[in-house]
Amino acid sequence: MGRNWMLEDDAISFDEEKDATIRRMRDLLAVRMKDAAKRHRHSLGVARTAASLALVYDVDVFSAYAAGLIHDWDKVIPDDEMLARALRYHIPIEGDPAQASPLLHGPVAARELVELFGELPSEVFQAVARHTLAAPDMTPLDMVVFVADGIEPNRHGAYAEHQRDLVGDVTLEELFLTSFIGGISYVLDTRRYLYPGTVSIYNDYMTKKG
Ligand SMILES: [Fe+2]
Ligand SMILES: [Fe+2]
Repeated sequence: MGRNWMLEDDAISFDEEKDATIRRMRDLLAVRMKDAAKRHRHSLGVARTAASLALVYDVDVFSAYAAGLIHDWDKVIPDDEMLARALRYHIPIEGDPAQASPLLHGPVAARELVELFGELPSEVFQAVARHTLAAPDMTPLDMVVFVADGIEPNRHGAYAEHQRDLVGDVTLEELFLTSFIGGISYVLDTRRYLYPGTVSIYNDYMTKKG
């Protein structure tokens, strides 16, 4: 399908109410990330990429864009504070808690963003929660946001290029699995800590595939 699936920002608009929500989200995001220009650019890139993927794979474009905008909302929080919040919200943590903290910004943000953006459909918060770790039962929206995180325009390298080329030519689940398994390969290749929950999710998908 090439790269023509990527929408330009001015091609993404909704009805009046949704546009107002998006404007408010963008304004608050700019404040939240005022000292993190790169992360801010990344968030806008994920929103645009998620919206574009949503159009290709027949997923709700507004939910995809909204989830992309706020998926890294809590990435600005230091590790020990993240862990404290995860414990407070009873978010399950497997293995070594210190190693898990980079994965917690998804589920922690999902709990907190409901208060700030209560007008959004609950699917948006689930997609935010699942963008770090994934889940055994990813919905199309969850998959769109997960994939967009890895292939937004500020992501460079052969891996992101390859993933972008697959858009529209493979199913959304295949695109997600390529991204999810690519992430695991990277962890193994660079000899980093592999979160135990990731292994269960991987096995779950491989069992389903038969
Ligand atoms: Fe993230
Ligand atoms: Fe991200």
